[in-house]
Amino acid sequence: MDFFPAFLNLVDRPVLLVGAGTVAARKLAALRKAGALVTIVAPAVSAPVAKIADEAGLCVHRRPFRPSDVAGHWLVVSATADEAVNRAVAAAASDARIFCNVVDDLENCSYIVPAIVDRSPLLVAISSAGTAPVLARQLRARIETWLPSNIGMLAALAGRWRERVRAQLASFSARRRFWEGLFDGRLQRVFDRSGVNGAEQLIAESLRGDLRTQPGRAWLVGAGPGDPGLLTLKALQAMQAADVILHDRLVANEVLDLARRDAELVSVGKTPGCTANSQDEINELLVRLVAAGKRVCRLKGGDPFVFGRGGEEAQALHSAGLEYEVVPGITAAVGCAAAAGIPLTHRDAAQSLTLLTGHGKDAVDNIDWASLAPGRQTLAIYMGVSRFNELMQNLTRHGRPAETPIAIIEKGTTPEQRVLRGTLGQLPLLARAHRIKAPAMLLIGEVTRLGYATLAAPAPVRALEATRSATESAINAAIV
Ligand SMILES: C[S@@+](CC[C@H](N)C(=O)[O-])C[C@H]1O[C@@H](n2cnc3c(N)ncnc32)[C@H](O)[C@@H]1O
Repeated sequence: MDFFPAFLNLVDRPVLLVGAGTVAARKLAALRKAGALVTIVAPAVSAPVAKIADEAGLCVHRRPFRPSDVAGHWLVVSATADEAVNRAVAAAASDARIFCNVVDDLENCSYIVPAIVDRSPLLVAISSAGTAPVLARQLRARIETWLPSNIGMLAALAGRWRERVRAQLASFSARRRFWEGLFDGRLQRVFDRSGVNGAEQLIAESLRGDLRTQPGRAWLVGAGPGDPGLLTLKALQAMQAADVILHDRLVANEVLDLARRDAELVSVGKTPGCTANSQDEINELLVRLVAAGKRVCRLKGGDPFVFGRGGEEAQALHSAGLEYEVVPGITAAVGCAAAAGIPLTHRDAAQSLTLLTGHGKDAVDNIDWASLAPGRQTLAIYMGVSRFNELMQNLTRHGRPAETPIAIIEKGTTPEQRVLRGTLGQLPLLARAHRIKAPAMLLIGEVTRLGYATLAAPAPVRALEATRSATESAINAAIV
């Protein structure tokens, strides 16, 4: 972070403004809006500056700047067209350890002024640390259109209730939950419909209700396959509302970074081959937290109901009579196929899609291979890395040709994504040659031949070791 963001209380505090042209007039108006006691130093004073100064009874020195002028001020603003004067102001302020902004001169600034969206008392400040002011202004324009014009009044109303809510709801988390419940759109709707009185009534009723019950709740949330851009809006809302986030190992750090700052993050992940929380332990923890009144986001890779054991967690919550909501996510097959440009179905190549797991003692033994052998169907195989050989043998034995095209997508949708293409017969060798590791998605079927270029090109594939065999070299040529 190049600059520390802060909002300054300038009410009745002396601030020095050097310069009195049109730019200085804008700065003066903003400083006055914040209640600053501005002193102006400039040899010539423009009419707009003179008008504001007259109306507010400000002190104006009609002479050149002197370094001693900075003394006794909390803040300095230099808005002259003379670079030498601006530099002298910055130097004098720096010597006196007073923060100084020189308009349009980042080098001489010890603080900068953000682009703002003003819905006082609500204020949104945007800064690009001086690198891209146009981008900051564009963002401001977007936020301007997105933020309701009366949201400031809503914030002021909440401010009036703050003490009463604090007096009745002792814990910080209860208060946060109370306000989150109102600011999720409900208060705005009532305010738009019935004005301040309606909104006050809603706050009072909610406070009475909140004192009676404060139930916990859970969200079983799909975080998608890795790319944080694939999160749904609902997933983000649940992550922002939760006190605790119980997350799987596969959930990317970039996704976890989007959680509320003070939320407790608990990894309950299972690493293949390592001991970690059993599913029963996870169910128990989930139920215990929600029963204790916590808002828990159970964050899972992909979709919670696709090989995610979300069904078992939903069952546990349901049996305990606890409230929960399922927020679907983009499952790995869908996310990986899109990232590799492979359509999972296509009128010319596949009319059905089967999602299978290669994991578990019985998983591969219990598959009805004969039904998966005929062509014109796509198979998406999860958790299959350690069983590629068995998968290939079973499918070919039941009639799926060894020439059937396949694609392996490792760490799909992430910056480390690798996409390998080959045939079913080559599958175990291909995976071994390229040291494919979980998480990887195996797609089998004619559609994998159709891979279209995507905007995000996969990262380059690691070079193979020098000892590879001739067959492996041939397979290497099939990499995209
Ligand atoms: C326990 S399953 C969870 C599936 C998840 N619930 C879903 O809907 O995608 C884990 C398997 O999903 C697949 N997977 C998850 N994320 C992946 C990714 N980014 N790239 C490739 N495969 C992925 C892998 O096959 C991995 O072994």
